[in-house]
Amino acid sequence: MHAHAVAAAATAALGATVLLSPGPDGRPVRAAQPTVVAHRGASAYAPENTLSAIDKAARLGFSWVENDVQRTKDGKLVVIHDDSLARTTNVEDVFPGRAPWKVKDFTAAEIARLDAGSWFSPAYAGARVPTLDRYMRRVERNHEKLLLEVKNPELYPGIEAQILKSLSNEGWLDRAHQNRLIVQSFSADSIRTVHRLKPALTTGYLGRPKVADLGGYAGFADLVNPAYADISASYVSAAHALKGPHGKPLRVFTWTVNDAATARKVRGYGVDGIITNKPDVVRTALSAD
Ligand code: G3P
Ligand code: CA
Repeated sequence: MHAHAVAAAATAALGATVLLSPGPDGRPVRAAQPTVVAHRGASAYAPENTLSAIDKAARLGFSWVENDVQRTKDGKLVVIHDDSLARTTNVEDVFPGRAPWKVKDFTAAEIARLDAGSWFSPAYAGARVPTLDRYMRRVERNHEKLLLEVKNPELYPGIEAQILKSLSNEGWLDRAHQNRLIVQSFSADSIRTVHRLKPALTTGYLGRPKVADLGGYAGFADLVNPAYADISASYVSAAHALKGPHGKPLRVFTWTVNDAATARKVRGYGVDGIITNKPDVVRTALSAD
């Protein structure tokens, strides 16, 4: 259907581009291009979950970025994917006696000393693990939109309320930001909690519930976000046939798609969003035909 798209017509809610394409009878029909989300920022080109990674996404022309939020020993929210600092910082050099270097065992001041860029490239030496507050200010400054993942919530009791408080303090829970924020997690309990605490917020469940169970998820999640290898056109259609908590079809953002062929395949399935380390590759793939 997208192969013969003739004109970009508008920008729909949450950033999906709407195209006018010839339908079966040749008359134009509306068809949405998937929203492209820069996974952990533009993480193929800059160190994941750093300010550099979301700056890079902005420079490439992408508004949606994804991140991962966890909590330090002294209760500060930070943006990092693994539950350990070892892979993406120089923590083993700075604190050699502190294996296994869990995020939850280090204070925010200790984490602020770490280099979160050199592991990726010397060009990013000195990049830091951002606090969530600092990260949100950069998202705002860049006019970006955020798919925020509550990562490993079982390690951090009460983190959902704490994240909402931080978002509120930074001005991200007002109506003006409603179409610029989605909160997702692999934990259904965590997303249920976010929905209960802030029903207006858009939420996503990370995973692939059975089709028979999708209705239950639609009670508290606006999106289900499965790995691309786990979906099909019929799965996406089954999701779209349901309505989420805000009365709109249950949407599907899939991850992590880093090549053109897969991007085109999942678009053919009808997904609403594609989460990728290489947003430029996905954009080129989707605009090539
Ligand atoms: O947004 C989807 C994706 O981030 C889920 O996997 O491990 O990269 O957080 P992971
Ligand atoms: Ca993530």
